[in-house]
Amino acid sequence: MKNFVVAIDGPAGSGKSSISKMICERLPFTHIDTGAMYRAVTLEALRRKIDVEDETQYSFVNDIEVVYKDGKVYLNGDDVSGLIRTTEVTNNASAVARVKIVREKMVDFQRGCRNYGNILMDGRDIGTVVFPDANLKIFLTATPEERALRRYKENKAAGMDVNYDTLLEEIKIRDFKDSTRKIAPLKQAEDAILIDTTNMTMDEVTNTIIEKINERLK
Ligand code: CDP
Ligand code: CDP
Repeated sequence: MKNFVVAIDGPAGSGKSSISKMICERLPFTHIDTGAMYRAVTLEALRRKIDVEDETQYSFVNDIEVVYKDGKVYLNGDDVSGLIRTTEVTNNASAVARVKIVREKMVDFQRGCRNYGNILMDGRDIGTVVFPDANLKIFLTATPEERALRRYKENKAAGMDVNYDTLLEEIKIRDFKDSTRKIAPLKQAEDAILIDTTNMTMDEVTNTIIEKINERLK
């Protein structure tokens, strides 16, 4: 089947990005990380020193270009894939992602990615808003404690000075903001398959999703 669309949604640390990458190493699919796009807009908002909570200060989104290609995110042509992973960007992204014009612009671009062929897109609203007609929808979850622990290990391995309790608090705040916002809140689509990854290895989750894709491709 051509242009098969897999939508993977779920909260921070549920494994969306890493599992998506592993699936795309084994199947002919292009991965699109929509969180990276909202992070790029957040980086620009911080550079412009706007008040991220004030929706009237976002006209700048009409003057910027955000492109996701080959695993990298470009802001006005510059690769910002590393710069979008700071704690400051992480903790401001939910405020930026609440804004209507930001979402409209990102969703337009995301829908355009259908031209890439078979795609696997991960985010918060892919199965509900971006591609309600996706061929397969997956909703990944894990307890906040497990997700904070994963982030803790990841940051520690990267040599960052981190505190588990702070990470847990930040994850809970982001979950709350993402799932209670007015436009495109984080929620499981009715026809999505729920996978609780709390006690699953990355390989187990990857194999489970690949099985579902193969079943639908038949
Ligand atoms: O990697 P992590 O789960 O920490 O976050 P992300 O996927 O990089 O997304 C960063 C932020 O962008 C999220 O907290 C959401 O507020 C927002 N986002 C969104 O609103 N809609 C999406 N489709 C993807 C991300
Ligand atoms: O994209 P999202 O925020 O949903 O999560 P991620 O960045 O892919 O995963 C967060 C961390 O959890 C990564 O370091 C993964 O290696 C780890 N992980 C895990 O330990 N077990 C899983 N079943 C899934 C992810």
